Amino acid sequence: MKNIAVIYWSGTGNTQQMALAVAEGAKGGDAQVVVKEVANASVQDVVASDAVALGCPSMGSEVLEESEMEPFVQSLEALDLKDKPLVLFGSFDWGDGQWMTDWEERMSSLGFYLFLFIVFIFNYFIY
Ligand SMILES: Cc1cc2nc3c(=O)[nH]c(=O)nc-3n(C[C@H](O)[C@H](O)[C@H](O)COP(=O)(O)O)c2cc1C
Repeated sequence: MKNIAVIYWSGTGNTQQMALAVAEGAKGGDAQVVVKEVANASVQDVVASDAVALGCPSMGSEVLEESEMEPFVQSLEALDLKDKPLVLFGSFDWGDGQWMTDWEERMSSLGFYLFLFIVFIFNYFIY
């Protein structure tokens, strides 16, 4: 059985919904799945997992949330995570999704094997 960590930041719940959906899908693959808000996660959760899913919406001005998710992602830069499978997910509203493009490039350059990214424009469905 594979270990999968789903780690996310969410301010108003959209990314949390996505995290729960990603976790549900991963469980269908006979994996042991841990879901954590990034404030409760550590780099050890990433190191100990066979695959990782990280979720964060576009915040600030097309960047990751800066007080919790950005420091967490920075803490991964010191690790040897070559070829670890990674899923990125998140949502945005008024921008063009640039934060996800930047995040994908950044994580790929760290050596992750980025095999999927999921993006929703949540408020598009509300208005
Ligand atoms: C402080 C703040 C900054 C945001 N910055 C952006 C942005 O730069 N670009 C964008 O497209 N959406 C931006 N958004 C919209 C959020 O990305 C969007 O509402 C997202 O679905 C929130 O996810 P959450 O419910 O998981 O917090 C911002 C929202 C907030 C509250």
